[in-house]
Amino acid sequence: MTVDAQILSAFRRAGPDGVSGADLATRLGISRAAVWARIEDLRKLGYDISASPHQGYRLLASPDLLHADDLLARMSGDQIIGRDIRVFEETTSTNDVAEKLARDGVKEGVVVFAESQTKGRGRMGRRWVSPSKRGLWFSILLRPPLRPQACTQMTVAAATALVRAIERQTGLKPSIKWPNDILFNGRKAAGILTELAADSDSIRHLIVGIGLDVNVAQDEFPPDVRSVATSLRAELGRPIDRPALAAVLLEELDRDYARICRGGFPALADEWEQRCLTVGQRVTVDLGVRQIEGRAESLDDDGALLLRTEHGRLERILGGDVTIVKR
Ligand code: BTN
Repeated sequence: MTVDAQILSAFRRAGPDGVSGADLATRLGISRAAVWARIEDLRKLGYDISASPHQGYRLLASPDLLHADDLLARMSGDQIIGRDIRVFEETTSTNDVAEKLARDGVKEGVVVFAESQTKGRGRMGRRWVSPSKRGLWFSILLRPPLRPQACTQMTVAAATALVRAIERQTGLKPSIKWPNDILFNGRKAAGILTELAADSDSIRHLIVGIGLDVNVAQDEFPPDVRSVATSLRAELGRPIDRPALAAVLLEELDRDYARICRGGFPALADEWEQRCLTVGQRVTVDLGVRQIEGRAESLDDDGALLLRTEHGRLERILGGDVTIVKR
């Protein structure tokens, strides 16, 4: 951890009791003047830090910005996802940055956030609008010990982790539309774009890109999606602390990643099914080249959706757009 991450971590652990400059200096092995200099820099970033002779330093408030040291300071320290966090003010697509890191041989678990993306992309070639500091736009580089066919497991895991993190931080109860949409009353608040590099029988790396509309105002969505998009802020009626949500989200993603690496996908699939709108419904799936209609029955071991067609055949769906048929 960097010095700033250690300082912020000490503040968060101390809470209202505060922590003395002398204590921090000893713990970090630096002078009190150096501690002071770091604190001045954190204040310039917007951290509200009080200093008093009796209570020492206390963190009163944090700014609404993604700061790698602060995100690291909020985490347990023994996680894979989020052991290395990189934040960009602006980038094309965080999936592209993560892809480059993968090619450079960076260890799995690195997370790339951007405050805004100029070329954010969604599934099926769609664009993903990412207004500055309004959401969580990020990508995770993973090298899971899975067969390439099982990479949908990670999309399912990510959707489940997203729902759990949103519930923990806001009390809201989103649902999942297979495979990757997080919805509130039919309106989408988040999506996942998983991109795979694989050999015939093993995954070289997987990039899991997540876009979560946290504090996006309704008029910031492009007109063509305004009626079908929403944000956590719109659902809750108040703005949400993005850095706190980001840290919880990484924690939940790390937990689910550990579960699937241990072979625990079946239990995760059960949790996913409980939160899923698609299972049990009549749906049409648009595969681009053809459309299939049927009843969504469950997930198989790879995370594919099993669809019972009207002829009684079971189809395995690994991609495409699912629409629930209204009756
Ligand atoms: C979808 O629902 O179509 C998936 C949307 C995924 C958007 C995220 S934002 C972070 C990452 N970078 C991208 O360019 N896309 C994903």
